[in-house]
Amino acid sequence: MKKDLISNHAQLDNSGKLVHLLGLEDLPKSHLLDILDRADSLLDSQGNLKKSKALDDMSVANLFFEPSTRTRNTFEIAAMRSSANVINVDLANSALKKNEALMDTMHTLKAMQIDMFVIRHKQSGLPHHVAQHLEGVSILNAGDGTNAHPTQALLDMLSIRQHKPDFENLSVAIVGDITHSRVAHSDIQALKTLGTTDIRLIAPEGLQHDAERCNSVKCFSDIDSGLNGCDVIMVLRLQKERMLEADIPNEQEYFDNYGLTTERLALANKDALVMHPGPINRGVEIDSAVADGAQSVILQQVTNGIAIRMAVMQILAKNHE
Ligand code: NCD
Repeated sequence: MKKDLISNHAQLDNSGKLVHLLGLEDLPKSHLLDILDRADSLLDSQGNLKKSKALDDMSVANLFFEPSTRTRNTFEIAAMRSSANVINVDLANSALKKNEALMDTMHTLKAMQIDMFVIRHKQSGLPHHVAQHLEGVSILNAGDGTNAHPTQALLDMLSIRQHKPDFENLSVAIVGDITHSRVAHSDIQALKTLGTTDIRLIAPEGLQHDAERCNSVKCFSDIDSGLNGCDVIMVLRLQKERMLEADIPNEQEYFDNYGLTTERLALANKDALVMHPGPINRGVEIDSAVADGAQSVILQQVTNGIAIRMAVMQILAKNHE
């Protein structure tokens, strides 16, 4: 799907209420903050998740056309903790394998009275297409190609805010395979919405942001200069499944030049947060000592993912009433 056909416009109804979550480009700051605040209210003072009846009598379908551990399971837990019925559609054994068109499958599931669809697909723009053609349901984008991963960026913002709430004075470095990362694309957007101006993208040539998109962020090829004095470091995996065989970097060389080690972490501010959306490839983009170290909030991100997904589903459910 062409980039210009990917419009997040459909996610707000005529009165400006959120009815789908497709991307963060057109999401007003007030909506973004509402989601973070609601997610916070679902966590108790110990950081444990509360339960809610908000999605009682509703049905949520998970459609993951790409592998997932964190996103799929936390969407499932979030729906269950909000009292919804959840089905994980078994795509490998579905009628899609008998050449049923995707939209026919979607209409069939809608006829089973599904209220919300959580969709991950390798094609950028696929959830947007479904949202435009399937009425009366909510679509949640759980990652579309290299385009967007809005709930990941929202949980990243919640994780940052819990430690460093002053987004306007934050320096955030994103390190790794920016080109193929829907997470990076959504994080950059969320940070901009929250007023962060010092956004640094650190990547080797070939995995860096498009030149024309680099103008409102700072692009670095040297990791040491990029990390200098930053407050948050987000590390990304090499997304080899999206690269041509010939373009895949040598892992040892990549680790030597871009791996986040204890020595490199020391270049950032001393209380800098270390984040990673997972899955982690230890010894490739991050050293174990850093991934498991005191500054890492990687597992907190996972728990926050449940709160964020509960918050989004509850807001969508309310707006559909
Ligand atoms: C990411 C994804 O799928 O985009 N993972 C996730 O959702 N936690 C990042 C990745 O696969 O590297």
